[in-house]
Amino acid sequence: MYSVRGEIGILFFYFLSIINLDIFLRRGWLVCYNESKELKGWTGMKVVFVCLGNICRSPMAEAVFRKMVHEEGLEDKITIDSAATSTWEHGNPVHHGTRKKLEEHDISAKGLVSRTLDETDLDADYILGMDASNVRNIHSFVDGKSDATVARLLEVAGVQRDIADPWYTGDFDATYRDVTLGCNALLEQLKKEL
Ligand code: 4NP
Repeated sequence: MYSVRGEIGILFFYFLSIINLDIFLRRGWLVCYNESKELKGWTGMKVVFVCLGNICRSPMAEAVFRKMVHEEGLEDKITIDSAATSTWEHGNPVHHGTRKKLEEHDISAKGLVSRTLDETDLDADYILGMDASNVRNIHSFVDGKSDATVARLLEVAGVQRDIADPWYTGDFDATYRDVTLGCNALLEQLKKEL
């Protein structure tokens, strides 16, 4: 039998279920949103050292900086990587000159393999080139897609020049001195920002 009251009742429950569904969906969305905010809320820093081949200078910087960060107990706060602006040495291990210099200073280059700068580097806080040409190439790669500070490593130490390039000179001592100078300054800078 037709009943207006009955129809109103059905409509009432219909709207109630829609409102409930809406609340349920919004709460679910909020949970997901807050979880992703928590993930994004990581307050650490990420640094990527960059050179032409990623076998001499930038892996030296990565290994030296890893040791410094480890000695400060900041491994959980600072992510460190290195990369090449070219694909020339892709997949190759660290140059024996860099490896030898690092070993002399009791620094491990274990597991370091050349790779090219890619999209995964865009979330870095610092992308640091070893020379001016690296920095130009980093800027063209980044092309506004990253908030990272892009600079030459030695500029962090207030020194306006390139890291000594051992590729033609074979002088890995000079490279080590420059890298250490830059990395020390970088560590002090990051400690202020963390
Ligand atoms: P890196 O050194 O950029 O410091 O790794 C070089 C590595 C390879 C070449 C030049 C520099 N190359 O001409 O293949």
